[in-house]
Amino acid sequence: MTLQKRYGEYAFITGASSGIGRSFAYLLAEKGMNLILAARRIERLNEIKEEIKLKFNRDVIAIQVDLTGENFLELIINETEDKEVGLLINNAGIGSTGFFQNNDSAHDATLVKLNCLAPTILTHHFVKPMVEKKKGAIIFLGSLVAINPNPLMAIYSASKAFNHFLGNALWYELKKSNIDVLTVNPGSTDTEFKRLTVSESNHKLSDPDEVASASLSVLGKKISYTHGFKNKLSHIPKRLFSQKSAVNLIGSIALKLNKEEK
Ligand SMILES: NC(=O)c1ccc[n+]([C@@H]2O[C@H](COP(=O)([O-])OP(=O)(O)OC[C@H]3O[C@@H](n4cnc5c(N)ncnc54)[C@H](OP(=O)(O)O)[C@@H]3O)[C@@H](O)[C@H]2O)c1
Repeated sequence: MTLQKRYGEYAFITGASSGIGRSFAYLLAEKGMNLILAARRIERLNEIKEEIKLKFNRDVIAIQVDLTGENFLELIINETEDKEVGLLINNAGIGSTGFFQNNDSAHDATLVKLNCLAPTILTHHFVKPMVEKKKGAIIFLGSLVAINPNPLMAIYSASKAFNHFLGNALWYELKKSNIDVLTVNPGSTDTEFKRLTVSESNHKLSDPDEVASASLSVLGKKISYTHGFKNKLSHIPKRLFSQKSAVNLIGSIALKLNKEEK
C-alpha cells in the first residue's frame, strides 16, 4: 500500500529547510506524498518546493513560520485547513551545550518552546482528524542524548527525552486508532545542526538521507529507532548501570571532551 493510501494525502514536516527534515521531504515526495513544509527560511523552502514539483510532480506548500512565535498554530491552520495531513514529522530542533548555569536562559527557553512545546501543540492539532479517520502517522525526533541524561547538554538532552517519552507513550495510546508513532533517535548527523561535542565532530557523521530513509522503513514496525550500530551502544549504560552510575560515566566523558575542546 502506498504511504498516501496508508496515512493520507499530505506529510507536514517541521524544519524542512535543511538537514533531516529536508531529506524527509525529498524521500516522501519520491514515495508519492504531497507535502507541507514549515520553517523560517522561506527562500530555502521555495527552492525545495520547486525542485520537488519538477522532479516528482507533487503538490508542495511552503509555510514561513517561527515555531517559537506567538500564535504559530493559527498561521499553520490558515494554510492547511482544507488539507488532509496524514503524516506529521515533528523534526525542527535546536541544541544547547555547556554548564547549565553559564547558558543563556533566553536561548534555553526558546529551545524548550521549539523542541517540546511546538511538537505538543502540532500533535494535538493534527492527531484529532487522524483519530476520526482511524489512520495516520506521527514521527518525533529524539536523539542519542534522549536515552540517558547527558550532563553539559542538560536542557537539550531533557528536551529530546521529552520527545522520546511523548512519542513512546503515544505509540501505545494511538495504536488502537490505527495511527503509527515512531521516535527517531539519530546520532551525529551531517546537517547544519550545531555540533554538540568534540567526540561528535570526530565521529563519522550519519547521512541525513540515510537517517530519513531508514526511519521511514521502520515506521509502523518499531516504537523507536536508533540509527547506526555504534549509536545503539548508547543504550548500554541505562541497561547495565544504576542511573547515578550512568550519569557519572556520561558526565565524566562530557567533561573530558569539554576540556579537550578548550
Ligand atoms: N544533526 C544531528 O547530529 C542530530 C542528532 C540527533 C538529533 N537531531 C535532531 O534532528 C532534528 C533535525 O535537526 P537537523 O540535524 O536536521 O538540523 P538542521 O539542519 O539545523 O535543521 C533544523 C531545522 O529546524 C528549523 N528551525 C530551527 N528553528 C526554528 C524555528 N524557530 N521555527 C521553525 N523552524 C525552525 C530550521 O529551519 P529554519 O532555520 O529555516 O527555521 C531547520 O530546517 C532536530 O530535532 C535535532 O534535535 C539531530
